[in-house]
Amino acid sequence: MRRPHEVRIDAKACTGCGLCRDDCPMGNIALEERIAHVATQRCIMCGHCVAVCPEGAVSMTGFDEEPVELDGNERLDADELLRALRARRSIRRFASRPVDEDEVARIVEAGRVTPTGSNAQEVEFIVLRDALPEAERVAVRLFRRLLPLAKLLRPSIAHIKIDERFFFKNAPVAIMTVSKNRVDASLAAANMALMAEACGLGVLYSGFFTVATRLSPSLRRLLDLRHGQHVVATLVLGRPAVRYRRTAPKEPANARML
Ligand SMILES: Cc1cc2nc3c(=O)[nH]c(=O)nc-3n(C[C@H](O)[C@H](O)[C@H](O)COP(=O)(O)O)c2cc1C
Repeated sequence: MRRPHEVRIDAKACTGCGLCRDDCPMGNIALEERIAHVATQRCIMCGHCVAVCPEGAVSMTGFDEEPVELDGNERLDADELLRALRARRSIRRFASRPVDEDEVARIVEAGRVTPTGSNAQEVEFIVLRDALPEAERVAVRLFRRLLPLAKLLRPSIAHIKIDERFFFKNAPVAIMTVSKNRVDASLAAANMALMAEACGLGVLYSGFFTVATRLSPSLRRLLDLRHGQHVVATLVLGRPAVRYRRTAPKEPANARML
């Protein structure tokens, strides 16, 4: 449950420049006698007013973290980013080396700061480490039962075998994004995958495990999923035990310029 927040404007520090008013997506700030005023506290609490004020005169109550000052050098290099995006591959072979707690914390942090529709900030994260083997056992049992029917429906999986490590491929950690909003949780997962790669980890999105969490009540209990909560993405994380030497071709972008 989110704590209540309030936007506060320090009238002594406000110079009446109007930047907060101009940048507020809800039209919630007005200038009165050259001082900014908030019309209602029932806005989306996006914090643009806090972030844009040159005087640091705007704040929001009820958060644990203080704003970090930005110097304008926080940009990604476009060429480096594209190179990294082209080079990434789904990793299905993991070495036995562990994933550190601080790496997991950075990955979750990348998910936490990802934007959400209406600034909902309702995406939750489940880090599976100790419970990973049990979760995999339950999912494997389920998929082995479903496989004959699935093979009838999808000939492309005719040769698939469900071994004991079918979902997590010996990786030590999996992180799930959980939300009622699939877009929000998918965006968070994409940023988390990027962060994991930046930490030198290999990533596999496990669509199969995500499906298992939808079908298995025991898995839902194990993951402590509440009513209406859905796993949207499962990131399997570990040290890659394979090195890819070149990119693989992909189809051209189907982009329309209108
Ligand atoms: C949402 C999503 C779910 C996926 N689920 C699985 C999965 O359950 N098991 C698996 O082996 N690969 C899974 N993959 C990996 C895809 O099969 C993979 O992206 C594809 O083989 C292309 O390879 P690349 O990711 O290395 O470019 C998934 C990928 C995505 C994006």
